[in-house]
Amino acid sequence: MWLNRDIVSIGDLNKEEILQVIEKANSFIPYAKTGHPDSPLKGKIVATLFYEPSTRTRLSFEAAAKRMGAEVLGFGSIESTSVVKGETLMDTIRIIDGYSDAIVIRHPSEGAARLASEYSEVPIINAGDGAGQHPTQTLLDIFTIWKELGKVDDITIGFVGDLKYGRTVHSLSKALSHFNVNLHFISPETLKIPKHIRKEIEKKVPVREHLDLEEVIEKLDVLYVTRIQKERFPDPEEYKKVAGTYILKPSTVARGKKSMIIMHPLPRVDEIPVEIDNLPQAKYFKQASYGVPVRMALLDLILRGE
Ligand code: NCD
Repeated sequence: MWLNRDIVSIGDLNKEEILQVIEKANSFIPYAKTGHPDSPLKGKIVATLFYEPSTRTRLSFEAAAKRMGAEVLGFGSIESTSVVKGETLMDTIRIIDGYSDAIVIRHPSEGAARLASEYSEVPIINAGDGAGQHPTQTLLDIFTIWKELGKVDDITIGFVGDLKYGRTVHSLSKALSHFNVNLHFISPETLKIPKHIRKEIEKKVPVREHLDLEEVIEKLDVLYVTRIQKERFPDPEEYKKVAGTYILKPSTVARGKKSMIIMHPLPRVDEIPVEIDNLPQAKYFKQASYGVPVRMALLDLILRGE
């Protein structure tokens, strides 16, 4: 049952449901640029409440809603809202619940989307809660793997960078554990994948941790690069110690499989130099473009139930 469902964690979706989104998204690709000819979400209002910066997630949700015939309202930063007057998240949600048919929310606190779902009748879609989860990014990440490699099973994926605070990694690694995959986590000692996530994943799929990407590059079908999440560091000195730790070198990519794809949720800082962009392995801009059909599919499922 999809109708009016909250998507707070990727754990809210099972493997069949993830694949259902993927298949529907694929059928929407032709409409991602032109709009769905039937405007199936005409008359619906999607609210996007972004308490934290965003470019791709908010704008692709809004593009997706509009391509499906829905209207959008919301905010991209809190400066112009009553949040600056001290309004609580609970109160804001209760109000927007009355103005919309679904609420897409990004918030700096882990657990904020779950809390919002307790105060809202309309479905809540988590667009990132602090260092917690980012389930819709995961859907487009899996869509990218499926599109570019033709399968999600029987592959080896390496995650590199900030695996501690990187919410896209938390959600994606969890979702991939439904598939037949090998996972490699490559990070500095201080930015390792949280233990509770690793424990959960390794019950289902083989997991290895490394400090050095060179150790595993030859095995990878997907290299998932992430930004060091500067804004989540309690101490700027700690950030300085790890900033620039992993900068992908063309010579490293050259050691990998020819068929390997390089992904990144973006924005990048310096971890992928621009000279990598022209390599056939670089798929991160394509990945970002898939945000529209994937979010069209998700909104359709949640707002129409089919
Ligand atoms: C990511 C996020 O916000 O978690 N960006 C995104 O949604 N595409 C990754 C990041 O900010 O590094």
